[in-house]
Amino acid sequence: MSPAISPASPRHFLEFRDLSRDELDHVFLRSQRIKARFKAYERYWPLQDRTLVMIFEKASTRTRLSFEAGMHQLGGAAIYLNTRDSQLGRGEPVEDAAQVISRMGDIVMIRTFEQAIIERFAKNSRVPVINGLTNEYHPCQILADIFTFIEHRGSIQGKTVAWIGDSNNVCNTWLQAAEVFDFKVNVSTPPGYEVEPERAGLNGAKHFAQFADPMDAARGADLVTTDVWTSMGFEAENEERKRDFADWQVDAEMMQIAAPDTLFMHCLPAHRGEEVAAEVIDGPQSVVWDEAENRLHTQKALMEFLLLGKIND
Ligand code: CP
Ligand code: NVA
Repeated sequence: MSPAISPASPRHFLEFRDLSRDELDHVFLRSQRIKARFKAYERYWPLQDRTLVMIFEKASTRTRLSFEAGMHQLGGAAIYLNTRDSQLGRGEPVEDAAQVISRMGDIVMIRTFEQAIIERFAKNSRVPVINGLTNEYHPCQILADIFTFIEHRGSIQGKTVAWIGDSNNVCNTWLQAAEVFDFKVNVSTPPGYEVEPERAGLNGAKHFAQFADPMDAARGADLVTTDVWTSMGFEAENEERKRDFADWQVDAEMMQIAAPDTLFMHCLPAHRGEEVAAEVIDGPQSVVWDEAENRLHTQKALMEFLLLGKIND
C-alpha cells in the first residue's frame, strides 16, 4: 500500500485580508483575462474534474448562481447543500462536516451566520474554504466591487468610498479592503449602528471616518454605496430599523453632493424607496449590473488562485 498522502495546508478566503495586496492584484488581473475569455466564448477548463461544494445556511441568488455557473465554466462541477436538507441542520458538528466534505470536494464555499462557524470549518478542512457571506463579512462581494471600480475608474488607491446605512458585513469588508488597498471609507450610520472596529477586524482608524450626517459622508466621494437596512438573520429588528434608518436613503440629492461622475454600487438585493431611491439605482451613475456580473468573473479567478496558485496563461 502506498503511504497516505498528507494534504498541503490549504489557503482560505474567510476575510478580505486573507489575501495580500499582491495576491489580490493578481486575482484582478486574472478576473480581467477570464472575463474576456468568457465574453469571447473561449473554452477555459483549468478546474476539470474538480468539485466545488457550496453550503448555504441563508438565502442567495447571486452567490449561488455565480459560484455554480463559474465552476461549470472552469470545467468543474458544483454541489449545493443547505441546512434544511443536510445533516448540518440536524446538529452534526461543523468540524465533522468539514472533515467529510473536504475529503470529497476540492474547494468549499459557505454562507452562514457567525464568522466563528466558518473559521471552525476551515480549521478542519483539507481544501480551501471561501466565505460566501457571514454576519461579519462578505469578502467575495468586495472583490467584485473593487474590480468593478477599477474597470470604470482605474486604481482605487487614494480614492474615497462613502458607505451610507448599516455598518454590516458588507461595510466591515469595505473597511478591511481600505486598509489593504489604501483608500478611505466615509461611513454614516444612524446613532446606535456605528462601526465596531474590533468586529470589523481593523488595524486602526486611519482608513475610515464616521459622519453623523450622510450628506457629509457623501460629499466629494468617488463611490457611494449602501445595502439593505436589515440583513439576513436580523429580521426581528425590521420595523425598528425602518424607523431608525429613514434618513439614510441614497437619493439623487446625495449623489449630486458627491459629484456628477460619482459611481453608485449596491450588492443587491435592493429595496427601492428604502436604502436607495429608484432614480439612483436605475440612474446613470449606477453600475449595479456590472457589479453583480463581476461576482462571476472575480470568483472564477479566486477559485483558480486558491486551487492552482498564480498562473498566467
Ligand atoms: N449580493 C449577494 O451576495 O447576493 P445574494 O444574496 O443573492 O447571493
Ligand atoms: N448585508 C446583506 C447582504 C446580502 C447580500 C445581508 O447580510 O443580508
